[in-house]
Amino acid sequence: MTAERALCRLEEIAEGAARGFPPPPGGFTGLLAVRRGEAVHVYVNACPHLGVPLEPMPHRFLDGAGRHIICSTHGARFRVEDGFCTSGPCAGDSLEAVESRLVEGLILVPADAGL
Ligand code: FES
Repeated sequence: MTAERALCRLEEIAEGAARGFPPPPGGFTGLLAVRRGEAVHVYVNACPHLGVPLEPMPHRFLDGAGRHIICSTHGARFRVEDGFCTSGPCAGDSLEAVESRLVEGLILVPADAGL
């Protein structure tokens, strides 16, 4: 079985909101999670355009309507559901999705996600 790490409890992310997480120990790239009801979508926090973190300030990943993940550097927009970039300089690329599962309310991801 692959080692996992817990990001947080699902209830610690408000409905429709996003939250950022630091890299794993020894890693370089953080993660972000967006909650949609009882589901969560987790991605590596790196824009496919230049590889930089997406958010302009902690946990600020979404547009005003909460419909898209936005890259603050050049404004690329990504679908929450699958990370696909619908507009911007990396249109057609996708955020790197991270498999996650919920166990007793905890969001678990592979321990090496973000390494
Ligand atoms: S670095 Fe994200 S759109 Fe350019």
